[in-house]
Amino acid sequence: MKREEWLKTGFVNEPVDKNIDLKVAIDQLRKQKNVVILAHYYQTGEIQDIADYVGDSLALAQWAAKTTADIIVLCGVHFMGETAKVLCPDKKVLIPDLNAGCSLADSCPSDKFAQFVKEHPGYTVISYVNTTAAVKAVTDVVVTSTNARQIVESFPEDEKIIFGPDRNLGNYINSITNRNMLLWDGACHVHEQFSVEKIVELKAEHPDALTLAHPECKSTVLKLADHIGSTAALLKFATKSNAKAFIVATESGILHEMQKQAPDKTFIPAPPNDSTCACNECSFMRLNTLEKLYNCMKYEFPEITVDPEIAKEAVKPIRRMLDISEKLGL
Ligand code: 13P
Ligand code: SF4
Repeated sequence: MKREEWLKTGFVNEPVDKNIDLKVAIDQLRKQKNVVILAHYYQTGEIQDIADYVGDSLALAQWAAKTTADIIVLCGVHFMGETAKVLCPDKKVLIPDLNAGCSLADSCPSDKFAQFVKEHPGYTVISYVNTTAAVKAVTDVVVTSTNARQIVESFPEDEKIIFGPDRNLGNYINSITNRNMLLWDGACHVHEQFSVEKIVELKAEHPDALTLAHPECKSTVLKLADHIGSTAALLKFATKSNAKAFIVATESGILHEMQKQAPDKTFIPAPPNDSTCACNECSFMRLNTLEKLYNCMKYEFPEITVDPEIAKEAVKPIRRMLDISEKLGL
């Protein structure tokens, strides 16, 4: 009965006893059940701190592919869990809240994308990892923002390519690789929100600060950036750079790890257009909480499932991405 109710809510809506030390309890469950907790940089600081591994979407897929754990808990969004499940069909893959979706993945319905691909015979299909397994099933190779440039460049210059679903990342890759890929018109609601005017004001207030931006941002924001890259690339740049202050145009969860790795530096989150909302936080990512993580490990619910027929096709472009990334040393 309870599971039926949880299926409706998308998570275990059981109140957690206030006397339980969640960090200790999560650690016990992790050992008892041989669980690996993988967390994305956009998770809350407390989830990042308790995870076995924290990384960008490429690293999450790489860790999932290699783990010997019996259960993977993916503290991130649904497509990340699906990628782990597709790579590890025999393992149980859990996510603290099944409602943790992705506006970018939602901007690319699989039936419409499959139709688009069908209308363009002879095109190689490159899909960003922020897509459903069903979209990956009609894709030739998956990319993340860490390897998109190198994977696109691994094809001949005259290769006819469809790139989906992020138009901002696609435009950016077109500009740096001198390609003319056909783009799907999708976007992420968080990265589209950053305000050019407010970033310009911040730069004037902090003239020594460097601006970092994720390639999902609009081109007008990318033009202001000193460095453009995936969450992992921005983190690496910020820790290695001699600069002492950074304006960060991506989801603000990344500031937790930046501050942890570079405690003497200042990280300023780039503001969204609407200053009354916390729009530089991904509402989907933030659905996962420590309580939901604990309950999900305790009850082994909710579980990510992928239709085996879809998984059989989706695994091919994901494996291809992992193989190319390994060869490139990424
Ligand atoms: P990364 O691949 O840089 O981790 O980005 C994931 C994501 O969802 C960006 O919005
Ligand atoms: Fe999706 Fe955007 Fe959230 Fe990343 S930040 S998970 S692209 S909605």
